[in-house]
Amino acid sequence: MNIAIIGTGNVGSALAQGFVQAGHQVSFGVRDASSPKSQKASTMAGTTLQSIEAASASAEVIVIATPPEAVLSLVTQLGDVKNKILIDTTNSIRTRPEPYTTAYHALKDLTKSSKIVKCFNSTGFENMTNPVYPAFGGIDMFCAGDDNEAKAVAQNLAKQIGFSECWDFGGDDKVELLEKFALSWINLAIMQGHGRNLAFKVIKRV
Ligand SMILES: NC(=O)c1ccc[n+]([C@@H]2O[C@H](COP(=O)([O-])OP(=O)(O)OC[C@H]3O[C@@H](n4cnc5c(N)ncnc54)[C@H](OP(=O)(O)O)[C@@H]3O)[C@@H](O)[C@H]2O)c1
Repeated sequence: MNIAIIGTGNVGSALAQGFVQAGHQVSFGVRDASSPKSQKASTMAGTTLQSIEAASASAEVIVIATPPEAVLSLVTQLGDVKNKILIDTTNSIRTRPEPYTTAYHALKDLTKSSKIVKCFNSTGFENMTNPVYPAFGGIDMFCAGDDNEAKAVAQNLAKQIGFSECWDFGGDDKVELLEKFALSWINLAIMQGHGRNLAFKVIKRV
């Protein structure tokens, strides 16, 4: 697939590496090609660096890996995305795209696209770079949103980059819960001091 990643920071770079290794074409869409993060991303094998408009135009899947409030300006730069899958990785913890509660809701309202999914938000970027814990195998990812096609694309991508499972949290009404779930990871890993090498995995009694 042709995937545009908007944002060349921790999450954008981690996902890009996995998607390239899985055989996808990855273009970073950047606001400033000379920023330190853009410059670092420009050296990543198998990726290209483009304007946000150009990366979006040629993509089937667009991953938003910016601060959540950035989507307010991004929506015009992304162009017509009604036939593209949008994956929102953001968490509105310190900032949010006012008046919306999450970037997901802002994207859905402002782009008029329905093919949106919240995914790759619930663990640290290090776990996206390497989702495998030797004693346990792949860790789990989670997604939410009303659109089943968008969720299936995100779930496949998660498994392709090494997550064991990508659990469906539910529809639009579960998007904020999935952000709270991310906050639970942040709480344990950072606020409670257990460190970022920590991950969630669902187990079921059979
Ligand atoms: N860090 C994590 O472990 C983690 C885990 C899960 C989810 N998340 C979420 O993922 C998102 C990205 O986090 P991150 O840690 O990757 O951030 P980061 O390292 O600070 O990178 C942010 C990227 O967004 C770009 N950006 C900022 N404002 C923009 C705008 N208005 N238009 C276009 N691009 C813009 C920056 O571009 P410049 O280079 O031009 O500054 C940079 O490339 C956040 O919403 C965060 O809540 C983070």
